[in-house]
Amino acid sequence: MTGRVLVTGAAGFIGSTLVESLLASGADVVGVDAFTDYYPTSRKRANLAAVTGHPRFRLVEADLRSHPIEPLLDGVDGVVHLAALPGVRSSWGERFRAYAEHNVVATQRLLEAVRLVPVRRVVAASSSSVYGLPTRFPTPEEESPRPVSPYGVTKLAGEALLHAYWASYRLPVVGLRYFTVYGPRQRPDMGIHAFFEAARAGTPVTVYGTGDQTRDFTFVDDAVAGTIAALTQPAMPGLTYNVGGGHRISLNDLLTRIELVTGRHLERKLVTAPPGDPHDTSADVTRARRDLGYAPKTDLTEGLRRQWEWQRTS
Ligand SMILES: NC(=O)c1ccc[n+]([C@@H]2O[C@H](COP(=O)([O-])OP(=O)(O)OC[C@H]3O[C@@H](n4cnc5c(N)ncnc54)[C@H](O)[C@@H]3O)[C@@H](O)[C@H]2O)c1
Repeated sequence: MTGRVLVTGAAGFIGSTLVESLLASGADVVGVDAFTDYYPTSRKRANLAAVTGHPRFRLVEADLRSHPIEPLLDGVDGVVHLAALPGVRSSWGERFRAYAEHNVVATQRLLEAVRLVPVRRVVAASSSSVYGLPTRFPTPEEESPRPVSPYGVTKLAGEALLHAYWASYRLPVVGLRYFTVYGPRQRPDMGIHAFFEAARAGTPVTVYGTGDQTRDFTFVDDAVAGTIAALTQPAMPGLTYNVGGGHRISLNDLLTRIELVTGRHLERKLVTAPPGDPHDTSADVTRARRDLGYAPKTDLTEGLRRQWEWQRTS
């Protein structure tokens, strides 16, 4: 694609993968990241190693909670807003204030800047966490969102801000509800990453509940392809799209696949499920297929192999 794209959260798991894909497609990219310490910043630096020095990439180390955003939009055609504090479990208690600031206040500041310096499209990351305990599987976007974690509440508030700026100012916003993204660079707090680490170390894996909970896993390249489509295709501004992988499997079955991929036995340690984790997630991607041509391609076993290869060698 041509033109300049501003990617917030550019040093993160999804952000750094998106930056590489945008550069490969011919775009100019300005990446913004605050290098928060949710997980080691050395990993975030490593995520950007391949694009550092690229003639069409510029990194701005800045915190969207306070940094002036309008100058960052100079000459920008599209914005992909991925910056956030992720993770369900650490969003309870005192930490909620930080979640509200990074996920809600920073989003409002970005939208306010776009109001003053217009761009062609703003794509912003939401999450399957907004659904909470949905009644329909696969879950369509029309399902009433009722998050069961403070993190989910902040992502839903971010979506509500997108809607407010669309409804009141016609900002060309598109929201994407990602469903558990995995693949190379996956955050160390995420399940598949932790399971591969346990396989490497020969230590038991912690299973919350009985392992019968299910997840719709999305390979990162598919999530990135859906994100670029939301930036470039005539998606409906003001709408939100599910971005899932079409692989809904139980945690127990996932662990069996991980054993196959790694060739190692995983000892399971069952503990009580923490509050805030939805029991099941499953994306109905009909709307994304229709408007974005979204078609996740990566088979789960192949995606797991690629993450294992990265984790084993990094
Ligand atoms: N990974 C998933 O499975 C998943 C699922 C659903 C939604 N999401 C959403 O996708 C987005 C990206 O997730 P990820 O897994 O790549 O997370 P990540 O933590 O790897 O990346 C987020 C990046 O945002 C940066 N950041 C946070 N607050 C900032 C601020 N105030 N200013 C500038 N930068 C800031 C962080 O330093 C980090 O590098 C997030 O919005 C997340 O809520 C991710």
